[in-house]
Amino acid sequence: MPQRNASARRGLYRGAGRTIYLDNAATSFPKPQVVTEAMQDAVLRIGASPGRGGHRLALEAGRTVFGCRAAVARLLMAGQPDRVAFTKNATEAINAALFGVLRPGDHVVTTDIEHNALWRPLRLLADRGVELTVVAAEEDGTVDPDRFCRAIREGTRLVALTHASNVLGALVDVRPIAQAAHRAGALVLVDAAQTLGEQPVDVEAMEIDLLAAPGHKGLLGPQGTGVLYVGPRVQAIEPLITGGTGSRSEEAEQPDVLPDRLESGTLNLPGIAGLGAALRYLDDTGEDLRSRTARRTAELVDGLSQIAGVRILGPRENARRAALVAFTLGEADSEDVAAALDRQGIACRGGLHCAPQAHRKAGTIATGAVRLSPGPFTSEQDVQEALAAVAAVAREVAP
Ligand SMILES: Cc1ncc(COP(=O)(O)O)c(C=O)c1O
Repeated sequence: MPQRNASARRGLYRGAGRTIYLDNAATSFPKPQVVTEAMQDAVLRIGASPGRGGHRLALEAGRTVFGCRAAVARLLMAGQPDRVAFTKNATEAINAALFGVLRPGDHVVTTDIEHNALWRPLRLLADRGVELTVVAAEEDGTVDPDRFCRAIREGTRLVALTHASNVLGALVDVRPIAQAAHRAGALVLVDAAQTLGEQPVDVEAMEIDLLAAPGHKGLLGPQGTGVLYVGPRVQAIEPLITGGTGSRSEEAEQPDVLPDRLESGTLNLPGIAGLGAALRYLDDTGEDLRSRTARRTAELVDGLSQIAGVRILGPRENARRAALVAFTLGEADSEDVAAALDRQGIACRGGLHCAPQAHRKAGTIATGAVRLSPGPFTSEQDVQEALAAVAAVAREVAP
């Protein structure tokens, strides 16, 4: 049974049954083997602290970090690697951007479908005197650029929005919004948690000033990694935390050069080494992986739409959808449905996905939704088995 053995090697077997992992929107799994190898190498052979000390191992650790930084910059089409700072996840990157550039009295425009990673810090900042305008997205998660741009005004400091909702999946057309923001002198923060690695992102062409993304989702890196890109329009950014940077140690003030300004304390070398390996892997296979994930997403939409009782959230056209499909089954509680699917070996997520606003928009705040999110290693057979499992649960809970 060669396929069984291949999957077993990927660690996808649970007991006697097969687990089909469809929770890549939370974190991608499995990771490419090269990620594990690079992490092991960082722990077992390099070991040293990057940017601290001048011995050979410290220099090699520094080169590993720089290589990953440069790879992220290349992926984003962002000229300078120094403009990429490492964080521990997308949430930390978003917080570093928001608290870094916003001051009381500043005006921010956002949408009403944001993940709590952006929404909660924005609400906290609003309590501290930042003025917030929240633009309504469409029910399917589409953001109308004209409506959004009308909320931008002279004196707006920042527009902050997701590239794709993690519940509705609709891709947001960032460029016209960014252009309007720049005409008004505002900066643009994009939460690319559900897109980076899976959708092309060009920070210059899309006119993005601040981009926050996890290393552990579409980039296929390990958990504990994230990035914040800080573009040249951002002339000043206050650090979220301050401390040792391995540079300008004689000064009491935090260095104002990037990335040191945003990277205090010892970096996550094993994680960054793993992320660097993942980026090289993506570079070699990216187009193929992306189209495979898109095919699986389309198959899921297609199959789910044929199951009685299923309501799919998000846009109808697959071309406007990131690699996730959330759905409800009649009035059934989504966590019960996800648990029933788990008993059949389908790992997926029910509930509110840390994005209650998107569920209010979709009218699913009471039930939540079940989210199936394929990754580059999801096979067509995985999708068919998952659809059969959903159909079986549907017959029970929404006959
Ligand atoms: C749209 C969106 N933003 C932010 C995040 C937060 O990502 P992280 O868990 O890496 O902090 C997520 C994670 O699910 C997300 O989907």
